[in-house]
Amino acid sequence: ADTLRAAAAESGRYYGAAVAPHLLGESDYAATLNREFNSIVAENVMKWDATEPNQGQFTFQGGDQLVAHAQNNGMSVRGHTLVWHAQQPGWVQGLTGDNLRRAMLNHIDGVAGHYAGDIDSWDVVNEAFEWDGSRRQSNLQQQIGNGWIEDAFRAADAADPAAKLCYNDYGIDGVNPKSDAVYRMVQDFLARGVPIDCVGVQSHLDSNSDLGTYRQNLQRFADLGVDVQITELDIGGSGAAQANAYRTVTEACMAVSRCTGITTWGITDKYSWRGQDTPLLFDSNYQKKQAYGAVLEAL
Ligand code: XIL
Repeated sequence: ADTLRAAAAESGRYYGAAVAPHLLGESDYAATLNREFNSIVAENVMKWDATEPNQGQFTFQGGDQLVAHAQNNGMSVRGHTLVWHAQQPGWVQGLTGDNLRRAMLNHIDGVAGHYAGDIDSWDVVNEAFEWDGSRRQSNLQQQIGNGWIEDAFRAADAADPAAKLCYNDYGIDGVNPKSDAVYRMVQDFLARGVPIDCVGVQSHLDSNSDLGTYRQNLQRFADLGVDVQITELDIGGSGAAQANAYRTVTEACMAVSRCTGITTWGITDKYSWRGQDTPLLFDSNYQKKQAYGAVLEAL
């Protein structure tokens, strides 16, 4: 195969990119997306601040544009993200106690309900743990308490029974205290029948990141009984070092049958949120980088 999407499809996987709808009018951007990727995730436009800027008033314009683009180009859609401590609208930050819990549940119902049937996998909850494995002390954790994560998963399941429901985080790329905590949460959810189907391993990495337990970590989640997806891959650096790190990550996913797809957090270095780290597979002129060749070989 000579594109990422075709190579990934040979093993039944997807190869995706985070996309901003306002860039789809740039011809190189759209052409690269359509040629190389068969999955889309919204880089920002499906987040809480974008979809419910005022309480109870939902705006789906950007997300709807992405879903339409995906459907017109044979791509699946990842949903990102229903509940997160960041990029919350101002009105959410002022809520306390049961008012925040009800607002969270209403938000999930509104957004996951709107997109029901169109989403392959939802990042239901994003970034809820600290490096040491404790819960992040977000407003959600402090105002609702430990049960907020399972409440969110149950609400997402009710709103879109067809979507796979993922917990998504960074820093869970290897075996470490943070991924141990996520592992225990997934184990507990499965034991108690809380609906969870997948773990999203963001993988914001650098060329010198320690990937020694990357594959083992994916495998242990798969062995628990959930899918794993590499959801926000970008690797700072350049040349051979960057290519080798991309190869290692790609080979790890390929070695784990329940690793169902890979998404890079953007298409081109030109628009990466990490700017000068040049972490993506296409340079600022949409030329294929060395890392691109390594990924294509590994898929
Ligand atoms: C980032 C976007 O790329 C930026 O455009 C935005 O300003 C901030 O959020 N983890 C996540 C993503 O789950 O939603 C973040 O995306 C990057 C880190």
